[in-house]
Amino acid sequence: MSTKQTQPDSSSEASRAAPSAKVPAHPQGAQAAPASPAGKQPAPPCTLVIFGAGGDLTQRLLMPALYNLAVDRLLDDGMKIIGVNHGERETRAWSDDLHAALQKFAADKASTFHAGKLDDTAWDWVAQRLTYMAGEFEDDTAFQRLAQQLNGKSRGNVVFYLAVGARFFKPIIERLGKAGLLDEGDDGNGAFRRIVIEKPFGADLASARDLNQHLLSVAKESQIYRIDHFLGKDTVQSILALRFANAMFEPVWRREYIDSVQITASEVIGVEGRGKFYEQTGAFRDMVPNHLFQLLGMVAMEPPNSFDAEAVRNKKAEIFDALKPLTPDDVVFGQYAKGPAGVGYRDEPDVAKDSRTETYAAARVQIDNWRWAGVPFYLRTGKRLAARRTEISVQLKSVPFLLFRDTPVDTLTPNVLTLRIDPSHGTSFDFNVKTPGPLVQIGPVQSSFDYDDFFAERANVGYETLLYDCMLGDQTLFQRADGIESAWSTVDGVLHPELDAALAVYDYAAGSEGPAQADALLARDGRAWRALAQPQTKKK
Ligand code: BG6
Repeated sequence: MSTKQTQPDSSSEASRAAPSAKVPAHPQGAQAAPASPAGKQPAPPCTLVIFGAGGDLTQRLLMPALYNLAVDRLLDDGMKIIGVNHGERETRAWSDDLHAALQKFAADKASTFHAGKLDDTAWDWVAQRLTYMAGEFEDDTAFQRLAQQLNGKSRGNVVFYLAVGARFFKPIIERLGKAGLLDEGDDGNGAFRRIVIEKPFGADLASARDLNQHLLSVAKESQIYRIDHFLGKDTVQSILALRFANAMFEPVWRREYIDSVQITASEVIGVEGRGKFYEQTGAFRDMVPNHLFQLLGMVAMEPPNSFDAEAVRNKKAEIFDALKPLTPDDVVFGQYAKGPAGVGYRDEPDVAKDSRTETYAAARVQIDNWRWAGVPFYLRTGKRLAARRTEISVQLKSVPFLLFRDTPVDTLTPNVLTLRIDPSHGTSFDFNVKTPGPLVQIGPVQSSFDYDDFFAERANVGYETLLYDCMLGDQTLFQRADGIESAWSTVDGVLHPELDAALAVYDYAAGSEGPAQADALLARDGRAWRALAQPQTKKK
């Protein structure tokens, strides 16, 4: 992510080992494989240890991302991948499963992994570096075996990726510490040892603090890479580019000109076989203090002095710190009931027939600082809604006075800048023009930018940048302990168990816009949600 053309961590063995001008001897090099994206160096050599080698995340996201990085020649020839999972199996069998999953994604036109056809040479390159290791996540001997492999004579760089259920985070972290696997040496010249941890990062403030304490008792903050996969999306990273690489937006990016901001992450899919996880988590914990707050942070943060990880993360932390704690009045929860788009949540597998888990959450968030005081940020997310849409709409205030005869100011459509994150990628701007003809009439139009009109499509599952940055030691796109804790402390007021019974969970029909009560949340302020059912961009 960093704009400095990412250099390997100069304090570690990484920089000495990283190939500089040397082109790694990837087998695909001879076969007109795509060149590395301009100016990018391969990541330093390292061993990636994946806990949860047999899991969905490994198959669906990590391996496709590693494969894409291999195609782009951004991995070093010295790379190794060790998959740890319970149950004995041959490396060959693991590799075959991963390959089959990749082929399936490549064939699926709807998936974001649209390589079309797998590049066999690139896959062979990855496959040659795989080793499967049977090991229980709570068994000390498995970690001792790992230590023998990794801490031997040629002690190298290692990234430990926790692609496991949250209940295994602490047991794995403790054992990594106990086995000395996270020691980098005090002089800063040792090999790097990093941990990547996925969400859910805690389930409330207390559990997030506890997890941070555990992590920080065995590793330094600089070794911890807390992933929020939304930050791996180019369209999310582009929010900062839009704001800080253009002169026209920042002057109006403040309370004097902005009326309100809507952040939406709506899905048409239901819980898709994740009933057990979802019953415990719910839409609010699953999406709001993490993904949606990250989007809010990118929109609301002050300009950092540079694109260094700490500079960016400090500014984001300031925003999370300034968020006003939510009260039950600021949120609306919903649950999908049988509707045009399918069955109700309570009829999904592994879901209680009387479940009160929310599959929809809306929140009104306020930022208590000079720039944003009085500008509401409305957040909403949900499953089985009318459309799949992740976007940020920044609505500007009305003009103060209208000089066009017979056109009242209050009939004007407000200017809205929409940053489209998914599934369509780009930005749209709604504004007013004079309509053609002899009469002076004003009408709304839209101007759009679409990524695919300007840039070639890239096979990308969203984890490529995150994995690559982690190997390079760039923490810009990862979350720091303080940011995570501020986010949880903002929402903690609506997460207490005693509120579970008190906070209503309203029904909405599967395939609809969400519960009517969420409309009331905005209507209270004289505003309305942008309709999901409308297309993301308007064309004649
Ligand atoms: C995950 C949530 O973190 O994000 C899922 O656990 C959700 O419930 C997903 O579907 C949405 O991510 P994306 O990238 O598909 O918008």
